[in-house]
Amino acid sequence: MTAEIIDGKAFAADLRARVAEHVPAFVKASGRKPGLAVVLVGDDPASQVYVGSKGKATVAAGMESFEHILPASTPQDDLNALIARLNADDSVDGILVQLPLPDGLDEAAAVAAIDPAKDVDGLTDANVARLANNEVGLVPCTPFGCMMLLNDRLGELAGLDAVVVGRSQLVGRPMAQLLINANCTVTVAHSRTRNLPAIVHNADIVVAAVGRAEMVKGDWLKPGAVVIDVGINRLAPTEKGKKGQLVGDVAFGEADHVKAITPVPGGVGPMTIAVLLRNTLVAAHARAG
Ligand code: GUN
Repeated sequence: MTAEIIDGKAFAADLRARVAEHVPAFVKASGRKPGLAVVLVGDDPASQVYVGSKGKATVAAGMESFEHILPASTPQDDLNALIARLNADDSVDGILVQLPLPDGLDEAAAVAAIDPAKDVDGLTDANVARLANNEVGLVPCTPFGCMMLLNDRLGELAGLDAVVVGRSQLVGRPMAQLLINANCTVTVAHSRTRNLPAIVHNADIVVAAVGRAEMVKGDWLKPGAVVIDVGINRLAPTEKGKKGQLVGDVAFGEADHVKAITPVPGGVGPMTIAVLLRNTLVAAHARAG
């Protein structure tokens, strides 16, 4: 059996195109474009790349992109004051504060300052509670993108055993909630979990989101499992290559026996931005009433 490679890049391109198709109707009804503000504090190169791609994708979808780049030395009060201005700005429908923030800044305080109606990352307490209660709200982009890929590949998820490896606020926890809401039987594994290989081997669905290169081994995976790899890890550069290779949290080369698996790159990564655009359009419509 040969694993199907889930083409997240193509799925994301399709989702972006569908979002872009719906933008003109919003513009016609409201007289303005949906707007997404991205706040980047500091000069982390990976975050700069992400923020640049978000801005380009936003404009390509026919939306307004507002980028706020602040020095790493920005005081908390200034960051919160910017978020307050964006909350009050009618041309802004979505606010994303790129994480992680530099040392010395309080991420929880920055997130708490975001108006939940503009919280396109789904990280505020109000949106976390809505997800926990299976109510309509804004859902974190990466896990929502993973759910779209799972639904597309598997259809009905009810009754399936799912293991989420990782318990972060951005991915692991909301992913587990989404799978519970889809009536899966969910196990959340983390750094203190005992006998991880056996737990993973029980799963019909494996979502790996730990940020450790190729940690999930091929022989942990049940034949027929569907594997979603959220990790993006750069290996140390070899003598030949200038840059190290990008790999996921799953040993992709050992996973030929599974039903389907997302590659890294080109799997989950492109879905995050596509869902961000979708969330921005959803927030714009909700705000416009
Ligand atoms: N850093 C890496 N991924 C994300 C994301 O989805 N949202 C935010 N705010 N920061 C991130």
